[in-house]
Amino acid sequence: MYFLADNPAVYDSALKEQLEIRKLKGDDKELLNWEDTKRMKYSRNAVNETLRMAPASLGYFRDVIHDFNFAGYTVPKGWKIFLSLSTMHKNPKYYPNPDKFDPSRFEGNGPAPFTFTPFGGGPRMCPGNEFARHAALVFMHNLLIRFTWGKLIPKEKIIYNDAVSGPEHGLPIKLERRCHEPEIDAS
Ligand code: HEM
Repeated sequence: MYFLADNPAVYDSALKEQLEIRKLKGDDKELLNWEDTKRMKYSRNAVNETLRMAPASLGYFRDVIHDFNFAGYTVPKGWKIFLSLSTMHKNPKYYPNPDKFDPSRFEGNGPAPFTFTPFGGGPRMCPGNEFARHAALVFMHNLLIRFTWGKLIPKEKIIYNDAVSGPEHGLPIKLERRCHEPEIDAS
């Protein structure tokens, strides 16, 4: 909601995709399923771009189990290291113009390996990652089709409290229910 409100072109593309999915459903009582959210390629990229720009978690820790060298530094066994997602996800080497919300970064093969890890990685990677994306896409579908919204604090900051991110003032918005389902714009 935060990023779509600021990016009308992304909003329009995501809405168009959701209306196409909506047309595939028999009637408006038919619930979305796993296959439907897999078809939401553009919206999924927008969810990923949200997780890049504002990863829910600031990062995560790892125990060093043997000495290793990194960028000229020796990191000894027994140390605890912190992988900062907010830093990695904004590295201009991998994400040109990193403060721009741009879902197209995830098209094709997407970002370089190990530069986008909002759900961690390796054997301890978040087991809820696909479920979380699925839930976000179902929410996005219903929100886009039924409501419009605008931010009440246009430049509200995203802050981290206890390592969890969120808009500083809880994202106050003006939410309006649509009178009619929007039509797909053929252009
Ligand atoms: C946007 C939503 C979510 C984000 C950004 C997120 C992120 C993360 C991250 C960064 C980790 C640490 C991974 C690592 O150390 O490599 C983690 C672990 C975990 N997450 Fe999530 N998570 C999300 C949603 C969920 C959901 C919906 C569930 C369950 C249904 C879940 C269950 C877990 C569990 C059980 C672990 C611990 C895994 C382990 O230590 O083996 N998460 N999550």
